Amino acid sequence: MGKHFPILILLFQGLYMARSLIPAKYDGFPYGDNSDISNAIIVEAFFDPLCPDSRDAWPPLKRLFLEYYPHIYLLVHPFPLPYHDNSFVACRALHIANMLNASATYPLLELFFKYQEKYYNGPTKNSSRAAIIEDVARLGAQAVGNALLSEFKDGFADSPI
Ligand SMILES: *[C@@H]1O[C@H](CO)[C@@H](O)[C@H](O)[C@H]1NC(C)=O
Ligand SMILES: *[C@@H]1O[C@H](CO)[C@@H](O)[C@H](O)[C@H]1NC(C)=O
Repeated sequence: MGKHFPILILLFQGLYMARSLIPAKYDGFPYGDNSDISNAIIVEAFFDPLCPDSRDAWPPLKRLFLEYYPHIYLLVHPFPLPYHDNSFVACRALHIANMLNASATYPLLELFFKYQEKYYNGPTKNSSRAAIIEDVARLGAQAVGNALLSEFKDGFADSPI
């Protein structure tokens, strides 16, 4: 028993140090009409809105959801891959959309999938960060409602997001 004690202390220190980095609520966006999570199989997907594999995986995953609903609880986690330069901006946009109009989260994800190629590293090589954020905010406003364009832009200056 005594042998395990130092390991436990390390774990708690780790948790304590990471506390400010852990989101206040469980990360991820539930898809569709929520099933009762306690009676469902939970499927968690880690998606990069600018990754072609995520884009290609989304339609079959949606079909799976429809087939197994209500015995399935689908949660998508925004997961920006470090080698997609604009993914962090895209993932922030999903969080902004979720905050402004929760039902726009998945429509925005689908807009990213639809126009994904425009945000790849190559085509945005000469674009400033500000120009990319401006463009992404316009896309986001298409999902949350155009009246919220300026709120959407402000979201990028909101550090908790
Ligand atoms: C919220 O987003 C949904 C999905 O894009 C949209 O249909 C709805 O009109 C938006 N709500 C408002 C108040 O704009
Ligand atoms: C970026 O700028 C360089 C130099 O002006 C140009 O040759 C290149 O075509 C530009 N690339 C894009 C994707 O706009």
